[in-house]
Amino acid sequence: MSTIGVVREGPGEARVASSPQTVRKVVALGYEVLVEAGAGAAASFPDPEYVEAGARVVDRDAAWSAGIVLKVAPPSLDEIGLLADGATLIASLQPALRPDLLEALSGRGITAIALDAVPRISRAQSMDVLSSMANIAGYRAVVEAAHEFGRFFTGQVTAAGKVPPAKVLVAGAGVAGLAAIGAASSLGAIVRATDPRPEVADQVKSIGGQYLPVEVAEQMQSTDGYAKATSEAYDRRAAEIYSEQARDVDIVITTALIPGRPAPVLLTAADVASMRPGSVVVDMAAAQGGNVQGSVAGERVVTANGVVILGYTDLPSRLPAQASQLYGTNLVNLLALLTPGRDGRLVIDFDDVVQRSVTVVRDGQTTWPPPPVQVSAAPPAPVVAAEVKPAAKASPVRTAILVAVGLLALFVVNAVAPDPLPRHFTVLVLSTVIGFYVIGKVAHALHTPLMSVTNAISGIIVVGAILQITTPDPVVQVLAAVAVLVASINIFGGFAVTRRMLAMFSKGVQR
Ligand code: NAI
Repeated sequence: MSTIGVVREGPGEARVASSPQTVRKVVALGYEVLVEAGAGAAASFPDPEYVEAGARVVDRDAAWSAGIVLKVAPPSLDEIGLLADGATLIASLQPALRPDLLEALSGRGITAIALDAVPRISRAQSMDVLSSMANIAGYRAVVEAAHEFGRFFTGQVTAAGKVPPAKVLVAGAGVAGLAAIGAASSLGAIVRATDPRPEVADQVKSIGGQYLPVEVAEQMQSTDGYAKATSEAYDRRAAEIYSEQARDVDIVITTALIPGRPAPVLLTAADVASMRPGSVVVDMAAAQGGNVQGSVAGERVVTANGVVILGYTDLPSRLPAQASQLYGTNLVNLLALLTPGRDGRLVIDFDDVVQRSVTVVRDGQTTWPPPPVQVSAAPPAPVVAAEVKPAAKASPVRTAILVAVGLLALFVVNAVAPDPLPRHFTVLVLSTVIGFYVIGKVAHALHTPLMSVTNAISGIIVVGAILQITTPDPVVQVLAAVAVLVASINIFGGFAVTRRMLAMFSKGVQR
């Protein structure tokens, strides 16, 4: 059985690699867990909670000399010196940016697992710390912007006057961008978003944003969940859009990133200068060079025209309890994959694409970069129909003939049939025609209210059929019984479906 050490992070990092809740799961995998005293203090997890979860609270040296060490931020060179020979370190190691770190780790014969190198494939989603942290960061970016912004996000009509809603532009609709769009639109702002991947348009819309397409001939699709470099034509058109938007919006949140490249500059100094005083820009990519001219990594800058530019690089650490919980869960999911026997023994299988991707140093050998993982995040290309059948659309002549035949039949029935059949028949024909056109034109989004209306109509049918069922004619009785049965199926089925749909929106009781 190996020991696992959860160590205290350095200054400026409030997260911890395991919460008491996730420690319990690590213990269930067969490991002995040693938590450095005070490791969870900044994330509001006191030591006794770790003890209750089955860990031992130990001093710094003991935690660092465990067989496996869990950490959030990359270790310093001093910290690497504290690791036991042949130990395994699991942390966010930024392997693409920190070759010095990989060298130091391989020099010590360490096995290093970079949680931030999890490939963006569905099977690995539960271990993807970049996504879980970017999600938190996107939310927090909006909270930081709201804190700096001297006005409401939502529009209001009050006795003291009308307050317009804030306008927010989110550049880059990846994980962080979508979280920012969701948070800003739920605060009531008007939210617009850009992204070179057109496949995100529906996601932006579904969380209350408006997608601003950058229309150029070439369209980008991703093959691995990340964007590829944009073309010159795209950048030119996008720059025009950013200049127009900068003059109009109150808040800009930029999250544009292409892995392995410096962040693209989206908002120029001139764009920022054209914004109204009091506007706020959050440059989430400040650590990668910045999407905004004038942003400084880790700093709050106020421009000459009174625009606040936030370049904070520690957004997840500003929600430390939740971020630690999610980071810890990602880590437990990875540990479960690496502990197939649930016996506290770590086994790395290089035939598994996830395990291969995250292992950046193995027993002192640098194994970064891993072979590329190809998986398409784009929807399949639409199938182009070979030919459009002209019969798909009714010709006006055919429609006119059908209407004429219908009117003739109505006239014949009215002239020949005994009363009250003509009156009932007229109502039936008219309601069929009106129903066909009304229901056929209802947008998909309104199908649920439509279902409620058909439920009400079915209720009327049941009442009518029950009144008819006492008629002595057996044909009428059978028809009435069938009507009651069919309409009841619609009513009870409708209730069952509505109940299931409402359950999907129920948040449950959560802390
Ligand atoms: P992601 O890869 O999911 O999203 C990036 C998005 O930017 C993609 O949708 C991509 O298509 C888009 N993009 C690429 N080039 C663009 C361009 N020229 N114009 C507009 N959009 C473009 O990345 P994720 O996880 O959402 O992270 C976004 C950024 O936030 C990264 O720079 C990341 O490092 C940063 N981040 C910052 C944190 C902080 O504390 N400040 C915390 C977490 C993430």
